[in-house]
Amino acid sequence: MAVALIVAAGSGERLGADRPKAFVVLAGRPMLAWSVDALRSVSSVEAIVVALPPGSDPLPGTRAAPGGPTRSHSVRLALEAAQAPDDELVVVHDAARPLAPADLFERTLAELATSGAEAAIAATPVTDTVKQAAPDRTVTATLDRATLWAVQTPQAFRAGALRRALDVGDDVLAAATDDAWLIERAGGTVRVVESPPENLKVTTPFDLRVAELLLADRA
Ligand code: CTP
Ligand code: MG
Repeated sequence: MAVALIVAAGSGERLGADRPKAFVVLAGRPMLAWSVDALRSVSSVEAIVVALPPGSDPLPGTRAAPGGPTRSHSVRLALEAAQAPDDELVVVHDAARPLAPADLFERTLAELATSGAEAAIAATPVTDTVKQAAPDRTVTATLDRATLWAVQTPQAFRAGALRRALDVGDDVLAAATDDAWLIERAGGTVRVVESPPENLKVTTPFDLRVAELLLADRA
């Protein structure tokens, strides 16, 4: 069995809406509701804990945790609230990815359970050529695209390994743009699970519009 942690406590500054991003209405429902629904249809997920912004109420079928000052702090607080035993599977997801399909959660959890890795993470092969550039915008390197993956959520871990990875100073926690990096820096093995193209992150009003169009069929 598994526990899902959804981080929804961000303010959504770049979206610039009149409320926290996870509660912005998307195809007729709060953005958060789409991820909760997908997770409720995953049979191995027995609890959904959501790190919420101050003053918001949990959705039906979920448990509330407080949010923290950064995303990783929110993951840590949600994991604490979940009280999962060390060997329990935990899948972490951003409320900002409302289009993650149920089978992506299942495949991520299955990869963790069968591979022996410390983390299994949704990711998509990079299709653009990626270059590095200096501050003056002079290109300094072209990376080998064949080895590059754009990393997303869901990300799956054992509760104990994730707890240990998150048990770091505030500076390291604040620098973590994803949870798997915290596993990597502790020497753990991380495997990518290929995600479908619709698993986009809603960051800007443009992304919200794209998500709206994609979800119109499902509403
Ligand atoms: N998140 C969180 N706690 C924080 C910051 C972010 O739970 N202190 C969550 C967000 O709610 C979101 C996910 O982490 O589901 C990814 O973060 P991001 O897309 O950056 O969302 P926001 O931080 O809300 O947006 P912005 O950075 O534009 O303010
Ligand atoms: Mg943010």
